[in-house]
Amino acid sequence: QIQEPSTGVLAGRRVVITAGGTREPLDPVRYLGNRSSGKQGIALAQEAAAQGAHVHLIAGIVEAELPRGTARLQVERIETAQELQEAVQRAAPEADLLVMAAAVADFRPAEYAQAKIKKTDNGGAPVITLTRNPDILAETVHRRSVEGIGPRVIVGFAAETGDEGSDPLTLAQQKLQRKGCDLLVLNRVGENLVFGEDATEVHILASESARAQLKDSEVISVRGTKAQAAEAVLLQAAE
Ligand code: CTP
Ligand code: CA
Repeated sequence: QIQEPSTGVLAGRRVVITAGGTREPLDPVRYLGNRSSGKQGIALAQEAAAQGAHVHLIAGIVEAELPRGTARLQVERIETAQELQEAVQRAAPEADLLVMAAAVADFRPAEYAQAKIKKTDNGGAPVITLTRNPDILAETVHRRSVEGIGPRVIVGFAAETGDEGSDPLTLAQQKLQRKGCDLLVLNRVGENLVFGEDATEVHILASESARAQLKDSEVISVRGTKAQAAEAVLLQAAE
């Protein structure tokens, strides 16, 4: 007889978490990728399972070791943004919570070359044309508002460096509004703030409607390990 753990802030909830980077093929031996380690998404999946959830981890390219599948933690692998889109579309209707921690490529090569691209003798270099990938987070939010299908809570992530005009927090506030998700987790990246490290600092922003349900302030900042950040994010998402 299998005992269901009934404790934990996510007891019995169905949680879908995306993690890692996508890889967009150019030809049979080359791709466009990014520096996501997948560690934050994996930490979220492990913490959600520890909090009693049924977790579906959809993992792209990760540097860290993936957890082994268990009765409460299912692991699915994808490579491209389009494969991630299909996996999320399949999983989202049944989910209570979606956490988009994956670093989804915004663009992919417009044309996939069936054969390896070769150098030519004239010293020239090919021009690679890119095309936009679907915005999976925005699409899931849209589907929820139009069709009423999908997770009650949708969490986005944003890695921002800031620029001359705007600080990372302002950019994150704008992104939260633009995406229409309920929570947005900001990671500041850039100098001294390294990809893939276990120490992290995240700022959790809540949309106006989500904030109405939170007793906390507008932004919750957490500095610590990725496991501690995961715990804080899931605690907010579980409210
Ligand atoms: N995301 C997504 N699909 C994409 C791109 C991003 O679902 N094609 C999700 C990410 O998983 C993340 C959130 O959207 O949860 C924000 O990603 P980010 O790259 O910061 O946002 P973009 O809208 O792509 O903006 P930017 O131009 O700053 O990259
Ligand atoms: Ca992007």
